[in-house]
Amino acid sequence: MRPFREYVLDAIALIEPLELNLIAPAHGPILRHAPRDYVHRYRELATPRLFNEARSEKTLVVFYISAYGNTRRMAESLAAGAESIGGVRVSLYDLECSEAGIFTDLVEEADGLAFGSPTINADAVKPIWDLLSSLTSVNVKGKLGAAFGSYGWSGEAVRLIEDRLRGLKLRVPVEGLRIKLVPDAGELEACRDLGEQLARHLTGRVEHREIDMAALA
Ligand SMILES: Cc1cc2nc3c(=O)[nH]c(=O)nc-3n(C[C@H](O)[C@H](O)[C@H](O)COP(=O)(O)O)c2cc1C
Repeated sequence: MRPFREYVLDAIALIEPLELNLIAPAHGPILRHAPRDYVHRYRELATPRLFNEARSEKTLVVFYISAYGNTRRMAESLAAGAESIGGVRVSLYDLECSEAGIFTDLVEEADGLAFGSPTINADAVKPIWDLLSSLTSVNVKGKLGAAFGSYGWSGEAVRLIEDRLRGLKLRVPVEGLRIKLVPDAGELEACRDLGEQLARHLTGRVEHREIDMAALA
């Protein structure tokens, strides 16, 4: 399925060479003043911003929602950590007041998706579920996924999001991060580290960790 914006760009390519006096859309007002400005604006809106010219960078989109700022602090540290690894571009989105539908193109073009939610009533919060539900119409198979969030006592949200991501066939190579209430400096460092690990997975520069078999036993 082609992204909608590609159809818009095809239509613009047809219109651009024509002499243009007015635009009469199927519904909405007839645009008589500076119609070409609208065409330019549509080209701008339909051009993906996540891509750099050569598409050499990987992209990680971090979505979060946060009532008291705890998950937001985690998201910001995670994003800073991911950005510190060369070759990864990070975008951070607060889902408060946003409709899930507007992120479809963004999700489609991203290489990695991280979701941050506090645990409220033993669950992740609705804007996160709305966004995850909207992903069923997008090809997300094989993208990298991750979850994180602040909690008070039980902290179910992160595991539930991870399960959903796996159900959508994303790969979830790094265990999600839960932090109790307000993250302290060390915990924010752990968020940063999660961002770095995700970025390394995206760029294929995964650090090999030594497992102490004695400790496992
Ligand atoms: C109405 C309400 C319900 C909550 N329910 C849970 C819960 O079921 N389990 C839990 O671990 N924490 C629960 N919490 C605690 C929040 O997860 C915690 O305050 C968290 O730090 C909020 O993060 P935020 O600042 O990113 O919103 C609840 C908090 C509120 C206000």
